Amino acid sequence: MVDTSDEWITTRTGIKERWICDENESNSDMSLAAGLRALEMSGNKPEDIELLLIGTVTPDKRLPSLACVVQDKMGLVNATAVDVVAACAGFLTGLSMANAYIKAGLFKKIMVIGAEKLSSITDYTDRNTCVLFGDGAGAAIVEASDGDDGILSIYIKSDGRHKKLLWIPDGGSDSPAHKINSLNGHHFDIIMNGKEVFKHAVRMMADASNRVLADANLKAEDVNVMVPHQANIRIMKSTAKRLGIPEEKVFVNLHKYGNTSAASVPIAFDEAVRSGKIKKGDIVLMTAFGGGLIWGSAVVRW
Ligand code: UT7
Repeated sequence: MVDTSDEWITTRTGIKERWICDENESNSDMSLAAGLRALEMSGNKPEDIELLLIGTVTPDKRLPSLACVVQDKMGLVNATAVDVVAACAGFLTGLSMANAYIKAGLFKKIMVIGAEKLSSITDYTDRNTCVLFGDGAGAAIVEASDGDDGILSIYIKSDGRHKKLLWIPDGGSDSPAHKINSLNGHHFDIIMNGKEVFKHAVRMMADASNRVLADANLKAEDVNVMVPHQANIRIMKSTAKRLGIPEEKVFVNLHKYGNTSAASVPIAFDEAVRSGKIKKGDIVLMTAFGGGLIWGSAVVRW
């Protein structure tokens, strides 16, 4: 569809495969599948969940929220359900909210999902973006605990001055889809200045990671596994290098799924746990970065 090559995509991004929903699959279907697996793994029932937070920029509908649709599909009858719009940092932002709600004593069991159907907002004639994005969902359940495991420190930051480095120009309330003559419809899709985003991504994820490590009285060498947002292998390696974390501690599944935005960190975390890469007691550093710009890090003891 575009002038590109496997060689360019592999060497510049590290991506080999991406998964795209078929026309009958929705973001809520993927969220449901991920959420059910998290319930099963944690031994919880749908009625145990008191809050559902979904990081997404691709809800099934503008209204209601994706979270309300998923609440209905999953039977979370006792939950409040809310979307978190923080692009690729959506899961970590949801996790920071879950952490705060639990610390405040407002909820005891919270499901946090990161889920994106990016194929619905990808311009497949734009080689700057169309080789990167995939669809997917990942989920976690966060519970109150008295132990020394769990979230040790979490930090989220944004800088709206860079809002046009990664954005969707049209389709919002200042240029509604039915009222404008968009550029062949493609201004309803993601537009990205990749080079600029790259530079900010490395600096900001390293800064956020240093903050959470310092806050938790930890050093880079204490980290057993780093689970970064899976956007570009070069971004992941540069960030790890800046932090002094060796490459072999960085969990990578980008080659299998591409960039799934808010879904990338929970999918990677889940794979790292189920494959035995993350073991009980391990210190895990998560970090993510996305359009807004918004970024953050979390350090947890698993
Ligand atoms: O998840 C949210 C955050 N997003 C990201 O983290 C993405 C961050 N950015 C990136 O990952 C990288 O900047 C990209 C993968 C998007 C681009 O890689 P790059 O090394 O920064 O390439 P570039 O934009 O500097 O482009 C280099 C060349 C250009 O050609 P000229 O001007 O040198 O002739 C592009 O036109 O590569 C060309 N190019 C391509 N060539 C083949 C750009 N996209 C492609 C493509 N296939 N798909």
